[in-house]
Amino acid sequence: MIISSDYMKKSMQEIISKNKEKISEEAAEGIFQIDEVEIAKFLKQIGNYEIDYIPSGKIKENLNTKYIGKNIYSFHEVESTNSVAKFLARFDSPEGTIVLSEIQTRGKGRSGRKWESPLGGIWLSIILKPDIDPSKASIITLATGVAVAKTLRGMNIDARIKWPNDILINNKKVCGILTEANSKFNAVDYVIVGVGIDTKLDTDILADDLREKTTSIAKETKVTVRESEIIANFLNEFEEVYELFKNEKFDEILYDWRRMSQTIGSYVEIKQPLGISFTGTAVGINDQGALILELDNGELKKIISGECIIPEDELDYTHTLDNF
Ligand code: BTN
Repeated sequence: MIISSDYMKKSMQEIISKNKEKISEEAAEGIFQIDEVEIAKFLKQIGNYEIDYIPSGKIKENLNTKYIGKNIYSFHEVESTNSVAKFLARFDSPEGTIVLSEIQTRGKGRSGRKWESPLGGIWLSIILKPDIDPSKASIITLATGVAVAKTLRGMNIDARIKWPNDILINNKKVCGILTEANSKFNAVDYVIVGVGIDTKLDTDILADDLREKTTSIAKETKVTVRESEIIANFLNEFEEVYELFKNEKFDEILYDWRRMSQTIGSYVEIKQPLGISFTGTAVGINDQGALILELDNGELKKIISGECIIPEDELDYTHTLDNF
């Protein structure tokens, strides 16, 4: 079904004016804190309605999950699927709800960066409501990286994870993950996991510095890219690893993360703001997602954030898929 934005706006206005008394002050406040105000109000009023650009029926055909992906909102264009998901999370959308869009006009990357999201990618967010201590939320990002890497490996692609949470093919970034958590009284209220996978992205449209570091599945492999299948496979993998997370089997998640990591064992440079940088061998990762670096003087340093650069001559391709 195709819905123009004019049609959508008109429908939203009608729906909102008919439901004025049902929108509480608190909800109205929440509404005005996010960008996709109109879309979100619309969604709230129409319930589980599918706009269905990337057909959710096709995704569901290949899903074998219990709760991840049971509700899918699939758009043509939103500012950011994470923002729409946040809105939905505030209004009691169940755990596992997915927001997808073909295009994002203000896609969000890590560290406040913009995430280029034209046609040619999978831009999706998952709403989670885990009953956990907020300090454990970072493991969800690691778990998501594991799920993406396993999905691509399931397509016979040699995908690796680069700390903190980029997925690489041939040392170029093909996927980024942005986790946003909201906590109340030291308990997690909801977590939004945003995943951007460049499936057929035309990397020529990117700025010079991004272009050389970014790639797409279509560019690096001969695999036939079917977005709905990739999404379903990813959601299947995600539920499995998320169940490990909920059962506090963090070691199993970290084991998989290390096994598929491009970073561990490499001599890397970590660049932080204000020109701070460290070089050393990445020897491990802890359950907060911090990288453990062995500096040149033998000292072990815990790195919480930064950009990780792995020089070409440090890349080790002897661990092909067959070794796993
Ligand atoms: C990164 O900087 O590596 C993280 C990029 C995360 C992008 C995804 S695309 C879907 C979701 N919605 C957003 O606005 N961002 C995430």
